[in-house]
Amino acid sequence: MTAELLNGREIAKSYRAGLAEEVEKLKNLGITPNLTVVIVGNDGASLSYVRSKNKAAEKIGMASDIIHLDSDITESELLDTIDRLNSDDAVNGILVQVPLPEQISEEKVLEAIAPYKDVDGFHPMNIGRLYTGQRTFVPCTPLGIMELLKHTGSLEGKDVAVIGRSHIVGQPVAKLLTDQHATVTLMHSRTQGMIEKLKNYDIIVSAVGAPGLVTGAHLKEGAIVIDVGNTVVDEKLVGDVDFESAKEVAGFITPVPGGVGPMTITMVLNNTLLAAKWHNG
Ligand code: GUN
Repeated sequence: MTAELLNGREIAKSYRAGLAEEVEKLKNLGITPNLTVVIVGNDGASLSYVRSKNKAAEKIGMASDIIHLDSDITESELLDTIDRLNSDDAVNGILVQVPLPEQISEEKVLEAIAPYKDVDGFHPMNIGRLYTGQRTFVPCTPLGIMELLKHTGSLEGKDVAVIGRSHIVGQPVAKLLTDQHATVTLMHSRTQGMIEKLKNYDIIVSAVGAPGLVTGAHLKEGAIVIDVGNTVVDEKLVGDVDFESAKEVAGFITPVPGGVGPMTITMVLNNTLLAAKWHNG
């Protein structure tokens, strides 16, 4: 069997076309959604992510600013910047690219972002609201994964293994899958016999950052494979899944790059649009 490709680039493109229409409608009402991205320092990968988000926002008609701060900035200077953005009515979404330099507490900074502008969905209040089922900003990678899975059919009753228990991906995606009536097992580095167990699952979501962790030999025939890994090996981006062997067994599979990545950026835009709508009643 050769798996069907879950092409994140294509799915993102058509999703963004829908967002562009929504942006146009808001602009006709005099509202231009604005995403402001804050980056500290000059890490190449982070700068490239930030530019992609900025360009993607502008491409669908949003306004987008990048605030680029020196790597030796103090925590209080960064907090002042966030305060200023919190009280700027023209700014709908604030995203502070992580990781931050070590003199700055990521926790403090993420908590300083006004929850109603937190388009990353990283603020503890928004994380809490996700678990209580209230309206909130859902973290972008989990949201993007759920959008990809819409192209595979119903999730009801499916057995899902989520590998990796981070606050940003593993835990929230487990919650979203459960909401769609899947039965979820959250696996991690202490899970016993993890790799052997994977054969029991209809869907595998791997979010570890361990190239080659999952291969075709580990999969149930026809399984849906979502690869969230993005590790740079020999200057190339690789996922957690050995694509070549997995595609021979899986029913659906995401490539890396071009799978989950474009969906994450799309969901930043989605959340910024929601922020603009919510700010304006
Ligand atoms: N660094 C890597 N991924 C992300 C992300 O989704 N949001 C932010 N703010 N920083 C990141």
